Amino acid sequence: MNKKQYSRRKFISVLSASSAALTIPAVVSAGPHLKASAAKLAVSGGAPVRTQPWPHWPNMIVDDNMIANITATTKSGAWSRISNPVNGTVATFEKKYAELTGAKYCVGTGSGTQALGVCVDALNIQPGDEIITSSYTDFGTISAILAARALPIFADLDYRSYQIDPAAVAQKITPNTKAIMPVHIMGSACNMDAIMAVANKHNIPVIEDACQANFAKYKGRQLGTIGQLGCFSFQGSKQIAAGEGGAVIGNDDMLMDKVYTVQNHGTNKKGQNTTIGQKMRMNEFEGSIILSQLDKALERFEKRNENANYLSSKIKKIPGLTPQFQYEGSNSSGYYLYAFTYDKKFFNNADRQVFLKALNAEGIPASGYIKGMQHDLWATNILELGNYKKNYTKQQIKLFKDSLVLPSCDRVTETVVVISAGAILLGTKADMDDIINALEKIYNNRNSLS
Ligand SMILES: Cc1ncc(COP(=O)(O)O)c(C=O)c1O
Repeated sequence: MNKKQYSRRKFISVLSASSAALTIPAVVSAGPHLKASAAKLAVSGGAPVRTQPWPHWPNMIVDDNMIANITATTKSGAWSRISNPVNGTVATFEKKYAELTGAKYCVGTGSGTQALGVCVDALNIQPGDEIITSSYTDFGTISAILAARALPIFADLDYRSYQIDPAAVAQKITPNTKAIMPVHIMGSACNMDAIMAVANKHNIPVIEDACQANFAKYKGRQLGTIGQLGCFSFQGSKQIAAGEGGAVIGNDDMLMDKVYTVQNHGTNKKGQNTTIGQKMRMNEFEGSIILSQLDKALERFEKRNENANYLSSKIKKIPGLTPQFQYEGSNSSGYYLYAFTYDKKFFNNADRQVFLKALNAEGIPASGYIKGMQHDLWATNILELGNYKKNYTKQQIKLFKDSLVLPSCDRVTETVVVISAGAILLGTKADMDDIINALEKIYNNRNSLS
């Protein structure tokens, strides 16, 4: 990697220097009670804001109904979806999930990565083709592209929202671009109007990676239903959790038929082998555990949004903390993670790690998210593979390498703080107040951070 070209730290230090003239209030009070606000930080030996443990996701949603459903599936002996293709748990889940999302069709898969990979194959994307996506994502997004030996081309982010920037997408389009894969990171919407405008202008299909974004809406439509295809994950940490599991939704009859065929090792609904595909089927146990959650999933989604809105209304009043920007028209989020940007200039220049250590000591589980440069390493490795050497021109490899220069993504990587939202955002208002009080306490004691 060309060091001159890829100087991430330099970029960030320039950013910091450019906003040197700051007004930093001495003490803030955005929280309602503030009993702990001026006390000594827990990290320095003071009493933590919270000692009560947080509930665990997904343990907290295990109930008798779920156990009875799984037992029933076990006893039925119909463990594969093909044993009960019409009324089985997977077939029933597919019908219900299509209804819940507002899509015409849904096809279950074994994971979100598989869902994305099935879409890539169903769109006939081949070695030599390019897919524009975000590097600020789970590895599954990129893995689905690489599995088809296609080339991921990264577009930089809007640093406020952590989402792919439509203008950057437009710049990366070439005659080899065969899909755009926006990732609704944290569960919140990308700027979909602008992304669809770029895609439609060039007649390129959009595969929405909505793996973190169940039920979130953008301008009245659920994420996953705006592009040609939308993908979801039901991995164990997700808002609907099955250990592993995924789904593709879409409205186009022929394309969704192809999606089914591809995930069924190339065998269509009539039992004919019509295309190439791996076996990526959801099984009946996964279907059963997902179905057991669907009734309450929307209620939980709404509770998370209510709590997230409350948190954001308070956190934005604390200098140096900025909740993830939501685009106009995105009035709800899947809230896989609740995220905000940390600006150390307002915290006595304490590094994010120091801030996180203090926040954790106050009893609030928070962390950074996607690690910087993670894609750089493996992306460089894949170029050494025969397939990539053989199928891509020098020009394409240059485009790919240039697409690893992502100043906004680097800035996001270094400054974002996330709180896992699955269980925590289902808490009470008092639980949310603990988070706000801890953040305020750290701000008000920032001079003791080092
Ligand atoms: C944004 C995003 N894309 C893709 C995936 C892959 O999904 P799975 O883990 O179910 O394969 C995930 C899962 O974490 C994700 O968060």
